[in-house]
Amino acid sequence: CGIIGRVGDGNAIEPLLTGLENLEYRGYDSAGIAVQNGSGIAVEKRSGKVDELKASIDGNATSLDGEVGIGHTRWSTHGPPTDENAHPHTDGTTDVAVVHNGIIENYAELKAELAEYGHEFTSDTDTEVIPHLIQFYLDEGMTNEAAFRKAIDELEGSYAVTAMLSGEDVLYAARQGSPLVVGIEDGEYFLASDVPAFLEYTDSVVYLEDGDVVIVDDDGVEFTDRSGEPVVREPETVDWDPGQAAKGEYDHFMMKEINEQPTALAQALEGRIDPDSGRIALSDFEPGTFEDVESVQFVACGTSYHAALYGSLTLKQAGVQSAALLANEYSVSAPPIDENTLVIAVTQSGETADTLNALRHAADQGAMTVTVTNVVGSTAAREADEALFIRAGPEIGVAATKTFSSQAVMLSLLGQRIAADQFGEVPSDLDSLLPDLESMPESIESILETTSARSIAERYEGSQSYFFIGRGLGFPVALEGALKFKEITYEHAEGFASGELKHGPLALVTPDTPVFAVFTGEEDEKTLKNAEEAQTRGAPVVAICPDGHRAVDVADAHLEIPETDADLAGLLANVQLQLVSYYAADLLDRPIDKPRNLAKSVTVE
Ligand code: G6P
Repeated sequence: CGIIGRVGDGNAIEPLLTGLENLEYRGYDSAGIAVQNGSGIAVEKRSGKVDELKASIDGNATSLDGEVGIGHTRWSTHGPPTDENAHPHTDGTTDVAVVHNGIIENYAELKAELAEYGHEFTSDTDTEVIPHLIQFYLDEGMTNEAAFRKAIDELEGSYAVTAMLSGEDVLYAARQGSPLVVGIEDGEYFLASDVPAFLEYTDSVVYLEDGDVVIVDDDGVEFTDRSGEPVVREPETVDWDPGQAAKGEYDHFMMKEINEQPTALAQALEGRIDPDSGRIALSDFEPGTFEDVESVQFVACGTSYHAALYGSLTLKQAGVQSAALLANEYSVSAPPIDENTLVIAVTQSGETADTLNALRHAADQGAMTVTVTNVVGSTAAREADEALFIRAGPEIGVAATKTFSSQAVMLSLLGQRIAADQFGEVPSDLDSLLPDLESMPESIESILETTSARSIAERYEGSQSYFFIGRGLGFPVALEGALKFKEITYEHAEGFASGELKHGPLALVTPDTPVFAVFTGEEDEKTLKNAEEAQTRGAPVVAICPDGHRAVDVADAHLEIPETDADLAGLLANVQLQLVSYYAADLLDRPIDKPRNLAKSVTVE
């Protein structure tokens, strides 16, 4: 999602709409603006593109005439992309308008409490509680500022919020866990989720910190903490040109998205692990939802299929019968299905035709269906009985990266939840998994900071073929490593179960075929033996494992991953492999974000 806010002289519409256009690169499904027009706050918002919003504003220009306003591009996380769910949100009056990025974890409780006081809600969003809360405190006689602060104090979760109250040319904003920046130019001030939103207008920027509350009016910006005490925030000058800014410091969306994985995972986990009990709290499902499930079938394509394989293995390890199946093979190869079968469609976009067909086939046969997806309101999310959103944020690079990591992690949480519903107790190995799960963002961060993937890509540039091997949870990672490599480098790459190498593929092995071996802690000795079988025939071996692992001494090269639970090691290895593919493709000068012949979402069979 993207936020823009503007205070200054002259009409606010143009800078607001420019801001929304500049935010389009982030991906969105709805857009809207709200302006102080002298008699209150006027809002124009709708699902669809900024151009469509502009067209509806053109038919409505006078009521949106004002100097102060806010705007938003929404990427759905609670509720589908409809006009009602688009931001800005109000409390149903023209008194308060709010735009928000992030997730309000306690919105359901707040909504219920406000409803008791007669507040009526018109959207499915978590955001809508914020204007209602502000209004609630205004009704109690508080000043605008006090009401805003009090409302913010009630929120749990992550947010960047900007609010406007009628009758004054002021914007109120708060940051907690979601980015928010202030742009400053003589007499004109901006608030935005990121700098490109207002780069045409100013390059003087203040990056807010968590806990900051700011008040912006014609005279300037007041920076405070949550209790109202002033804080010092110095402006910095950014030297980006507006065109390049969309990808920020990165040359490609793929690299940006690889780097977004720590944030994406933190967002996926938010509110889904109960900090008090240290247990999974997947409140996305009613208690006991899966108690009648006897077997689970995952259906998916491409990278999502590899995440499904991963999920299926973790589920089997938790004691539940499960299989991962290619969605495009499903109608001819599905195992028996009945009402005790749970079919889980894994699809980033929620629109892949093959996966939708498999989902429909399963529903026709009486299965219970769940979609695990990144896109709220997508066809697969709507058609399944239940949906679980991975909240990875929009992914623009055709080659899936952050969504794979988020899918795999969400599938292992879902697997634990299914097992708990089925057996009436939480699987015993969960205690060791949770701390490592919570430190995943940090572990990925450390890989991103220290990786030697670029030098490995350089070292093996020009090889004839690239092999990826792994065992257990390392196997789907080997498949995904090879898929990524072929997608973006156009070089031949293949993934194998490590034990399978000797049953045929060894015939291909030469000094010109590097073998990337993924070690997850499951029967690593066997994987190492398989890697050595290739090495004996001249193939260089790159070990992906923690430092100090025996494979490091044997291998020709090493990509380090932090020590972690065996359930998660493969996902860390996958980040290293994403980076190797990226650098290999970059050396070959490939169009990394848009590989030839491929589409982000394939909506035909
Ligand atoms: C296309 C993309 C792949 C993706 C697959 C499944 O083929 O190029 O990167 O993995 O579709 O997409 P989905 O949206 O269902 O996860």
